[in-house]
Amino acid sequence: MYNLLKGKKGIIFGALNDQSIAWKVAERAVEEGAEIVLTNTAVAIRMGTLDELAKTTHAAAVIPADATSVEDLENLFTEAQKALGGKIDFVLHSCAMSVNMRKKRTYDDLDYGFLDKTLDISAVSFHKMMQVAKKLDAIAEGGSILALTYVASHRTFFGYNDMADAKALLESITRSFGYIYGREKQVRVNCISQSPTLTTAGGGIKGFDGMLDFADRMSPLGNASADDCADYCITLFSDLTKKVTMQTLFHDGGFSNMGMSLRGMEQYNKSFIPENTDENGKIIYG
Ligand SMILES: NC(=O)c1ccc[n+]([C@@H]2O[C@H](COP(=O)([O-])OP(=O)(O)OC[C@H]3O[C@@H](n4cnc5c(N)ncnc54)[C@H](O)[C@@H]3O)[C@@H](O)[C@H]2O)c1
Repeated sequence: MYNLLKGKKGIIFGALNDQSIAWKVAERAVEEGAEIVLTNTAVAIRMGTLDELAKTTHAAAVIPADATSVEDLENLFTEAQKALGGKIDFVLHSCAMSVNMRKKRTYDDLDYGFLDKTLDISAVSFHKMMQVAKKLDAIAEGGSILALTYVASHRTFFGYNDMADAKALLESITRSFGYIYGREKQVRVNCISQSPTLTTAGGGIKGFDGMLDFADRMSPLGNASADDCADYCITLFSDLTKKVTMQTLFHDGGFSNMGMSLRGMEQYNKSFIPENTDENGKIIYG
């Protein structure tokens, strides 16, 4: 432990259960000396195990908020400042949901009502959160705000569906709000682009196991776990990264800069059945 967040106050959105990335971030933040408030939707708090986390992290409060509701967010930032006794130094936005994915609607058969929800929960909520915080002047100077994203915002991934569009919007909001918040309040705004990680949200993606294995084989350092992600978040909440803002920061073992890896190629070649190879075992490309 490095005491990187000693004396800092933070709000953590999106811890549902002990697999959640936000869960690991909350634990690491407290280990590093922070005091936190936890938040999620009322339903998620009821169905999940957030109260357990609140106990082990000695959270100052658990405040329900739907991240798409400006009213809920106003209440959250007001009450969190009271519970923590001052302005907020860091915020983690770790919320995402696609009803299209849940209902197995493919990208060429989207329900547009569901798409509105995907964008609102997974991207616009980040704007709402920052607009509310800024209007309430709830974030301390030099504060740090983070959201979690995925590389499908830049490049197309089978099965990621409308969440790819949501992540592209999330990253754009990061730049646009980051400029204003930096200029006016020295507040940093960044996104971490995380490896596929087995969580409730991750598991909802079509063909997730294959995606996880593929990314692992393609990455020279292997996939980054939720614990690794928490470590990275801590550095970005700390004073050691004061000039980093408006970025999408890849935390993916190198995946985003790979084309093909040896481990990936070996596995790919195994998929060729004998009929597709010549007498020397060389692949016959069709
Ligand atoms: N798991 C992965 O493979 C992966 C990879 C890259 C990025 N991410 C991102 O990490 C973040 C956290 O996801 P996770 O993988 O830990 O899964 P998770 O299912 O544990 O967390 C998602 C959270 O979003 C919350 N949420 C949903 N609707 C909400 C609303 N209206 N208001 C407030 N909260 C709401 C859920 O209650 C849940 O706690 C998401 O933004 C996700 O897209 C995940």
